Amino acid sequence: RPATRQYHEKVIDHYSRPRNVGTLDKKDKSVGEGLVGAPACGDVMRLHIKVDPETQVISDVRFKTFGCGSAIASSSYLTELVRGMTLDQASQVKNTEIAKELCLPPVKLHCSMLAEDAIKSAINNYYKKNPQVKPTNLAGT
Ligand code: FES
Ligand code: FES
Repeated sequence: RPATRQYHEKVIDHYSRPRNVGTLDKKDKSVGEGLVGAPACGDVMRLHIKVDPETQVISDVRFKTFGCGSAIASSSYLTELVRGMTLDQASQVKNTEIAKELCLPPVKLHCSMLAEDAIKSAINNYYKKNPQVKPTNLAGT
């Protein structure tokens, strides 16, 4: 593993004070769950989003990440980013945006990919649980 000095202070900030850690009630129909793993290292991220059925806005979001500092920082930043977004907006979040904010080095890019995969997976799970809701923007799906 890389030495701590290689991490940007934003990573260390999110890693030492992660935002929105936890879970939501996944039996709730308005909660979508994303559960993804990084093949490169075996790290795992679980993300729960709570969606307002009227507006499709993400009103709450929680994560648990079993992984490296960059993966935890990426998930923490992701939760701040997507809260208040519509599902369409959140489905367009790119890992490069997360990596840029956290100044992740190339070897840690897959850690931010885990966060992008997690939000996509949570959104898909929400649509599966709520088949009456149709994505209005099908780009990239
Ligand atoms: Fe080091 Fe993911 S490979 S924690
Ligand atoms: Fe694999 Fe960070 S080293 S998620």
